[in-house]
Amino acid sequence: MASVLTGTLSGEKSIERQIAALGPWFHNICLGGVQTAPEHFLGDYPRAKFESFRDAIPLDLTGKTVLDIGCNAGFYSFEMKRRGAARVLGIDADEHYLRQARFAAEVKCADVEFRCLPVWDVAELQEKFDLVIFMGVLYHLRHPLLALDLIHEHVAKDLMVFQSMQRGSRELIDVKPDYDFNAAAPFDDPAYPKLHFIEHRYSHDETNWWVPNRGCVEAMLRSAGFRIEAHPEEEVYLCRWQQIQTPPDGPHCVYPAKARNYERDRRK
Ligand SMILES: C[S@@+](CC[C@H](N)C(=O)[O-])C[C@H]1O[C@@H](n2cnc3c(N)ncnc32)[C@H](O)[C@@H]1O
Repeated sequence: MASVLTGTLSGEKSIERQIAALGPWFHNICLGGVQTAPEHFLGDYPRAKFESFRDAIPLDLTGKTVLDIGCNAGFYSFEMKRRGAARVLGIDADEHYLRQARFAAEVKCADVEFRCLPVWDVAELQEKFDLVIFMGVLYHLRHPLLALDLIHEHVAKDLMVFQSMQRGSRELIDVKPDYDFNAAAPFDDPAYPKLHFIEHRYSHDETNWWVPNRGCVEAMLRSAGFRIEAHPEEEVYLCRWQQIQTPPDGPHCVYPAKARNYERDRRK
């Protein structure tokens, strides 16, 4: 692969210049002694976040495969590689962040692959991974539950580390399996699973579309076939893939084989 580094790699000055040229950065990563985002509005991000849940992820990933969806500049990809993963693939929809990730990989001499691929296209990978990282992406999607369905169907096979911004109630209520049509009151309970729609912007960011409360995050994960095994940090979950009863008439975008059948049926 062609080098993404320009000039000599040796001096901090050169790295500093290249970091500046590749900015702005969301991930603060230390490259050759230089921080990529020292002024991050969330502090030393995502390292500070990672410290609070790092022990919930297997420390030894020897021989395992990892898919980091929405990898940004690759902070979590690099951490998983450091744990011995045999293969780490980071995907993101934004080439700006992928350029940063490839630069970081080269400076770190880390054998991590980065590919431009939106979560909607994970079926193209035709591969299932031992560990999927899906951190900080859900609320940036117009169709969040579809993304979880696609991940479950096409790329996850065991563990998933998940994180979402949450707003609203942090309480959990016992949601009944069914309610009468006239039972409107449960929806007024702040702890009822709620996904808050953002029509315009949140935190000056037009890519924030939906912000769930805690009950909603957990219900969505379960509904998409991810059993919650640990909740090491307010926003972070360690989940285990589990078989779900696929609805006989599942959505075409998740089950493309079915879509082909419908096409064939139409032609009959
Ligand atoms: C808030 S950042 C989270 C980065 C990293 N996962 C973390 O937790 O620090 C959201 C990332 O998701 C990426 N992203 C947004 N929409 C995406 C999509 N449809 N498919 C893949 N990545 C997406 C963005 O480009 C960005 O890098």
